[in-house]
Amino acid sequence: MNQELEVLLSREKIALRVAELADDISRDYREQPPLLICVLKGAVIFMSDLMRLLKIPVEIDFMAVSSYGSATASSGVVRILKDLEQSIQGRDVLIVEDIVDTGLTLNYLRENLASRQPRSLKVVTLLDKPSRRRVSFNPDYCGFAIPDRFVVGYGLDFNEQYRYLPDICVLHNEANSG
Ligand code: IMP
Repeated sequence: MNQELEVLLSREKIALRVAELADDISRDYREQPPLLICVLKGAVIFMSDLMRLLKIPVEIDFMAVSSYGSATASSGVVRILKDLEQSIQGRDVLIVEDIVDTGLTLNYLRENLASRQPRSLKVVTLLDKPSRRRVSFNPDYCGFAIPDRFVVGYGLDFNEQYRYLPDICVLHNEANSG
């Protein structure tokens, strides 16, 4: 398949925005440092950059979820592949996600985690594609709203490829010819 990459968000632009998000989060959570929950695998790079810029003593945990269906289209069925190692009852929890697309994954995840009775539950996403939403979902913190293009890099993949790229790039190929 003929694939071409076009930089949408440079590493410099990402770094500036992640620092701004870290300032906002440090300010909002200064009285109650949160447990950061990284949604594997896509949010790994975002969370590791973000947490090092926070000025509050956070703890971290990881979850892995998968939606059935094709690589680029969410089916809405979410399966937990890896769960948290600890109870979040009474904790201030901040879910760290790479991208909100249809909103189905985070909608499910937020409901699932809310049922475990955290003290508070918020979401930070690096990227948001609001035009693709199928359920109403608004992240509490968002790095960039982007157009309806399939992007890779900075943790985001296409068939497990391209996660290592330092920039966020639009992937042009036969399946995503836009
Ligand atoms: P949602 O349930 O449709 O909001 O899907 C969210 C998940 O779909 C993300 O966590 C990504 O794994 C994947 N995804 C959606 N859009 C993209 C994209 O442009 N590039 C890479 N992965 C994406």
